[in-house]
Amino acid sequence: MSIEMKSAPLVEKELESLRERCESLKSKGVTPSMKVLLVGENKASLIYTRNKKKFCEKFGADCEIINLSEEILESEFLAKVKEISERNDVHGCFVQLPLPKHLQHIDCGALISPEKDVDGFHVHNIGELFKGDPKSNGLMPCTPQGVVNLIEYYGNDLSGKNVVIIGRSLIVGKPLSLLLLNKNATVTVCHSRTKDLPEHTKRADIIVSAVGRPRFLTSDYLSKDKNQILVDVGINHDSEGKLCGDMDYENIKDKCAAITPVPGGVGPLTILSLAQNLLQAAENSL
Ligand code: GUN
Repeated sequence: MSIEMKSAPLVEKELESLRERCESLKSKGVTPSMKVLLVGENKASLIYTRNKKKFCEKFGADCEIINLSEEILESEFLAKVKEISERNDVHGCFVQLPLPKHLQHIDCGALISPEKDVDGFHVHNIGELFKGDPKSNGLMPCTPQGVVNLIEYYGNDLSGKNVVIIGRSLIVGKPLSLLLLNKNATVTVCHSRTKDLPEHTKRADIIVSAVGRPRFLTSDYLSKDKNQILVDVGINHDSEGKLCGDMDYENIKDKCAAITPVPGGVGPLTILSLAQNLLQAAENSL
């Protein structure tokens, strides 16, 4: 039997500390406040942003979702992000992705000042991640930070581990490789041009998949020793519309040491990291 690495116990534990930090900020006259810019009506984005708002309210922060029309002009969109994010009473701000096609060329990480960039997308924050100073108060990217927190919460020391990441996206794969390197892991980033992916994954102590392909990671990719830790960042729908990850969970859950479920694994930790960044941003503002 493998360990099912659910996020719920970690989220519950961290909520207590978020409540205390929020209370302390309020006693100093600061109510942490986040603004979410949501353009259009992408179904998944509507759910994600609602969940982010609900979570902030659980520990006492303010969170407002600002809905903008799918047809908004680029100039209007840019002006709106600037207006909202520059307000003195706003501590954290982000644009929910994906944007509609006509806005997709915009680098949202550059629109919001680094101290309010709760997504951790601004080059300043990416630079802090690159440098890896543990005393830095840069804001770290949410999903990668959630992956690291979950692995460590379940008692695993990352130092010296061989970690194979599948996927090199700007939101997950690339920044995760740096966070893990900062934890002294040996990191391999695999992607669509990687030759013989199973050769890499079979040698890993930890496999993290973030490619968005329903259940592609089967036992063919795993070591026979059943000693690997499997972290599934994928949130997909299969051909029958059922929610699933990148990993063939049912068929591999007994062929590893530990595995994250989908849903209930990495997903909620992205929101937890966002909340932690919001409080850090509010504390930094004092
Ligand atoms: N869409 C999917 N994941 C994310 C994320 O981490 N941040 C933002 N802003 N949009 C997303």
